[in-house]
Amino acid sequence: MESAEYHHALALLDWQVKLGATEAICDAPVNCYALPDTLAKPRNVPQAAAKPMTASAQPDPVAEASRLAEMAQDLDALRAALAGFEHCELKRGARNLVFSDGIPGAPVMIIGEAPGRDEDREGLPFVGRAGQLLDRMLAAIDMGRARADAPVYITNVLPWRPPQNRDPHPEEIAMMRPFLERHIALADPQVIVIMGNISAQALLGKRGITRLRGNWTECFGRPALPMFHPAYLLRQTGAKREAWADLLSLKARVGNG
Ligand code: URA
Repeated sequence: MESAEYHHALALLDWQVKLGATEAICDAPVNCYALPDTLAKPRNVPQAAAKPMTASAQPDPVAEASRLAEMAQDLDALRAALAGFEHCELKRGARNLVFSDGIPGAPVMIIGEAPGRDEDREGLPFVGRAGQLLDRMLAAIDMGRARADAPVYITNVLPWRPPQNRDPHPEEIAMMRPFLERHIALADPQVIVIMGNISAQALLGKRGITRLRGNWTECFGRPALPMFHPAYLLRQTGAKREAWADLLSLKARVGNG
């Protein structure tokens, strides 16, 4: 039987999570970013014993991602390939792989940035405050992730939550990009919505969403519409006017096939 102490400790932990704690830390501060470097440098290893680093010992993570992504013949296989991919450090700090939500094969594929705390906890993209706003935005143009008549399919550039919701590093984006490209090919949308700067960086190689938004472009051979990220709209409510114009443009484009 579980003790009263156990339940007390669990309640305290739950309370801290509700207050917004996202990491458990010890008394002494640990720089998690320093650990891989420290571990990578072997100390006091005699020269003769140190093995030369071969190409096979250090596979190029981007090449490995491309190889695995190309092998995936459907979305389930792609999810499994991502789940088995060990080169991205973000995976170690994440609770869940966040792959996608909505209806595969939907005419619209929305690509956000990376999971936040709520998404990491639930294993689904856009379920926090920004996600709720996204759902309301889609409902305003009669679309939705669960609507059989006008579905959307949703994913992110990165499938794992960056620690403390920091911006993804360019190397992380580059490493995961082959999976994203394959994800788009397998989901086969008519159009892509590029949500925010990180997504624009990953898919178009450009930042500056204020300038890019609302202008249809092309991404992996498909029409793509950059838009403000809903998290930005939560902070800058004045930008909702532009977001509304972009939603109408999306609806018109998809409605016209
Ligand atoms: N922001 C994103 O870009 N994606 C999510 O899944 C949640 C918040």
